[in-house]
Amino acid sequence: MSLEVKNWEEYTGHYDQSIKDREQYWSNVASQFLWHKRPSLIQSGSMSGGDVKWFEDGKLNITENCLDRHLLHSPDKVALTFVSNDPKAKKIEYTYKELHQEVCKTANMLKSFGISKGDRVCLYMGMTPELMFSVLACARIGAIHSVVFGGFSAQALADRIIDAQAKALIVSDGSLRGNKVIDLKSIVDQSLLISGTECLETVIVHKRANLDLSLNSIDRWWHEHQPMQSEKCPAEIMNAEDPLFILYTSGSTGKPKGIVHTTAGYMVWAQYTFENVFQVKQDDVYWCTADIGWITGHTYITYGPLLSGKNTVMFEGVPTFPDASRFWTICDDLKVTHFYTAPTAIRALMSCGDQFVETSDLSSLKVIGSVGEPINEEAWHWYDKKVGKGKCPIVDTWWQTETGGILISPLAGITETIPCHATKPLPGIEPVLVDDKAKELTETKAQGNLCIKSPWPGMLRTIWNDHNRFMETYMKPYPGYYFTGDGCKRCEKGNYRITGRVDDVINVSGHRVGTAEVEDAINQNNAVVESAVVGKSHPIKGQCIYAFVILNEKTGVSEDDIKATVVKHIGALARPETVMIVSDLPKTRSGKIMRRILRKLSEGEFDELGDVSTLLNPDVVQQIRHSLN
Ligand code: WT7
Repeated sequence: MSLEVKNWEEYTGHYDQSIKDREQYWSNVASQFLWHKRPSLIQSGSMSGGDVKWFEDGKLNITENCLDRHLLHSPDKVALTFVSNDPKAKKIEYTYKELHQEVCKTANMLKSFGISKGDRVCLYMGMTPELMFSVLACARIGAIHSVVFGGFSAQALADRIIDAQAKALIVSDGSLRGNKVIDLKSIVDQSLLISGTECLETVIVHKRANLDLSLNSIDRWWHEHQPMQSEKCPAEIMNAEDPLFILYTSGSTGKPKGIVHTTAGYMVWAQYTFENVFQVKQDDVYWCTADIGWITGHTYITYGPLLSGKNTVMFEGVPTFPDASRFWTICDDLKVTHFYTAPTAIRALMSCGDQFVETSDLSSLKVIGSVGEPINEEAWHWYDKKVGKGKCPIVDTWWQTETGGILISPLAGITETIPCHATKPLPGIEPVLVDDKAKELTETKAQGNLCIKSPWPGMLRTIWNDHNRFMETYMKPYPGYYFTGDGCKRCEKGNYRITGRVDDVINVSGHRVGTAEVEDAINQNNAVVESAVVGKSHPIKGQCIYAFVILNEKTGVSEDDIKATVVKHIGALARPETVMIVSDLPKTRSGKIMRRILRKLSEGEFDELGDVSTLLNPDVVQQIRHSLN
């Protein structure tokens, strides 16, 4: 059996087989990879046991599957096309052979600093090829990478360094974003002043922005160590279930969760989903606009396309620099065939006016994709008409950091698309809708909380250092199932439409921000007595952060000070859009903050507040309402 589903009949065939004989199905898929030892055990453990394992006795290295495997047939094929922030700079291409060499050199550099299998390496870099080399170099030697998005603050970076007990960190001196330079190295320096970060033994600095900086005692220049390394580095032979990476994401408490993905299952899922969802052909040019700091950049810029032997594009800059035609100019220049972006980017570009997209040709495009949040009708149709010119299937791909790769999505050109619907599950995925009492909704047309029934290869295995929280968050809410935290509708034809989070997580521009995390940050400000954060709908960001804050009397602290506190503790991506200073918060008699009411207030939906008379302090609702008017 081939990995690829080519038409609807094959999809239904694959789907049925994957459910009827799950192990046989994935055993066939797994046989297409390069193993040092082929797995004989396919899947063990269970959701309820929280001990799912895939291909357990297999041995492999994922980078041999991403790189070495393709060197036999197509060493000179372009693997990576890099597009700089600077619109005048020429694209830089790396063939599979060149990428292999760079990864080996980077791996040897890490080894020369004493990094070995199982060590954690933190990557805090701009979107440059060296970030991809570093990710793969870690995997080459069996070190566990933890990429931290460049928008996180010194405190957030320190939290992640400490939680993972990272031994080394690779940083860009600065990252180039439009006409701004983000001074990443100085943020690292601030992080290292925070107690607990002494676990870091080496900081490798990649010079990108040519910032004038002096090195500390543990700092080493990339350019003094990477270029002279050997271009060969034998791949560390890993067990299937050895951790490949940690990626932190927000949840319902103040502490970010270190999502752990392991080697073989993630690999199989990354390639399998990449090929089936996007249907990229040999000479196609595939571009995902995400940042490698997020899961999308792990699975669908780095691992998926390289495992599949395709040409992946990496873009350093931002969609609106030098102007709002940048994405489309790049598509035309590189003859991009597959374009994958987020609804927030689509809405932002849509709001800049059609002239930017209409001056581009875009005839090379064959498939366009969306990820990160529910896409609204208006953005879907604009994307379809203006970008896809009505001829490109839109793959609205639903998945999560935890799922490793796409779970529900049309297969490009195969599944009938419906605006705003992620449509059908991939083979191996059994979505289940449950009501709040954990009862499975068995009728086809239904609406409820989205769970996944049986294990799939790419699922997370645990939360780093906190298996208990893993069980409580994902496995215990609906026993026997993985709980996604999303609400979902299923139509009579079995198509899925994700409606958004049902927990205390806000989706800001496709990025997850936990309300508790923002509240914790706000509460770090000495002037704050109490705070409550809710998500408010926003025309471009999807949702934005709306904070209600009670202050000590006469502190002189302003709304902007509170915003600055959040930026300091988490980063600009969590900056509240609005801070409202209030004298009290609506609470139940047992003292629980009524976020439902705050959400309505933030939206200005005063007529839908419902019965507030049972509150401990009903007057406060009127007070807040009046100050909003
Ligand atoms: C949450 C996961 C998946 C990579 C990027 C975000 C929302 C994601 C869709 C979609 C509706 C979506 C969900 C999910 N989400 N894709 N196509 N339609 N909602 O990864 O940060 O782990 O966030 O993003 O709410 O739970 P993430």
